[in-house]
Amino acid sequence: MTCISFVVGTRPQHIKLASLIRAFNSLGLEYNIIHTGQHYDYEMDGIFFEELGLPEPIAYLGVGSGSHGEQAGKIIIRIEKAYKEHHTRLAIIPGDTNSALASGLAAIKLGINVAHVEAGLRSRQPFMAEEINRVLLDHLSTLLFPPTTYAYMNLLKEGIDFSKVFLVGDVMYDNIVLFKNYIDKAVLPECVDGEYIYMTCHRAENVDYPDRLGSIVRAVESIARVYGYKIVFPVHPRTCKRLIKYGLLDRLSNNKSICMLKPVSYFTSLKLIKNAVVTLTDSGGVQKESFILGTPVVTMRSTTEWIETVEYGWNTLVGCSTHRIVKAVGYFINNKPESIDPAKFYGEGKASHRIARIIKDFLE
Ligand code: UD1
Ligand code: UDP
Repeated sequence: MTCISFVVGTRPQHIKLASLIRAFNSLGLEYNIIHTGQHYDYEMDGIFFEELGLPEPIAYLGVGSGSHGEQAGKIIIRIEKAYKEHHTRLAIIPGDTNSALASGLAAIKLGINVAHVEAGLRSRQPFMAEEINRVLLDHLSTLLFPPTTYAYMNLLKEGIDFSKVFLVGDVMYDNIVLFKNYIDKAVLPECVDGEYIYMTCHRAENVDYPDRLGSIVRAVESIARVYGYKIVFPVHPRTCKRLIKYGLLDRLSNNKSICMLKPVSYFTSLKLIKNAVVTLTDSGGVQKESFILGTPVVTMRSTTEWIETVEYGWNTLVGCSTHRIVKAVGYFINNKPESIDPAKFYGEGKASHRIARIIKDFLE
């Protein structure tokens, strides 16, 4: 009987599932997928199941959007039933979203073991939603899989028993190794016709405040004007809604140097990162992918969970100040950091296999 449930609900969680399920398949481990429904637009959800060949979820909780309390509350209520109905003994939960914390909390209350993939990441910003989620999830998990040495050390420093913690590497690095050929073959959007800056932006801390989002919009306009590069910008639905609300959308969409798109597929996103001159982002995943794919990255945050990207000179943290964003992008246009092999930071593409092996032993 299947007793392993992967729990996902958002774009980055779907993506993390890709290498994991392949590793589980290769060891003959049975599993099912529970989808909370936190992300539901085709471009944030279905596209990844199709492109990455993910199996159909056994349960779809349909929680959708709402306040943090609403989302978490609905997940806890609905996932209890799904865990019971499908006899879950171990919930494997990637990431740090509301879906991750709520599904972990519901599991542990039912006596179900929780395995946290991407454990130990810390931003040191105690009020950041993802920091709250990941700290609590780590402290209720039975098995913890940090992706980097830094994340591993964070867990030990917080007093988590080292026998529960396994430094395995990063499943998103596994994906890049696994899908290398697909990334190279991905079709790029029509507006990409020369050198460009790739941009993503969705953090609540940046886009939910008109002054901060306004500052970012001014930076993008300046980058296009001063450096003469096109900005390729797939827009997250949260950001799209805020740009409309604050009257900023037309300024960007009327600017011929800014190519605004619906969110793109995973392979397209990776190819856009790989071929960009510089990446400008506030995404956790995109920072790391830029580092791995050899594109310098300017991060519109004041801290990062992926310290190695900064330490080795590939990532500059600039917050949302117009001046600092423009200056940092200019620096990387003219200065390429020293090349480095990312495999050593992220587990040589074997993280998912290590996780599958440890879970097999655990269940036996
Ligand atoms: C969530 C995660 C964040 C992660 C991001 C990945 C939390 C607290 N945040 O942020 O850690 O980096 O996903 O992309 O869990 N919306 C749509 N369609 C969708 C999904 C969302 O229109 O399919 C809109 C809704 O207006 C919604 C808003 O986007 O209110 C925000 O969505 P939500 O899931 O609450 O958070 P994200 O910003 O996506
Ligand atoms: N991504 C994507 N399409 C896009 C933008 C990003 O497939 O239009 C991918 C990106 O390459 C990375 C992941 O989504 O693999 C990151 O997710 P996101 O930025 O939503 O969340 P975070 O990593 O910040 O939690």
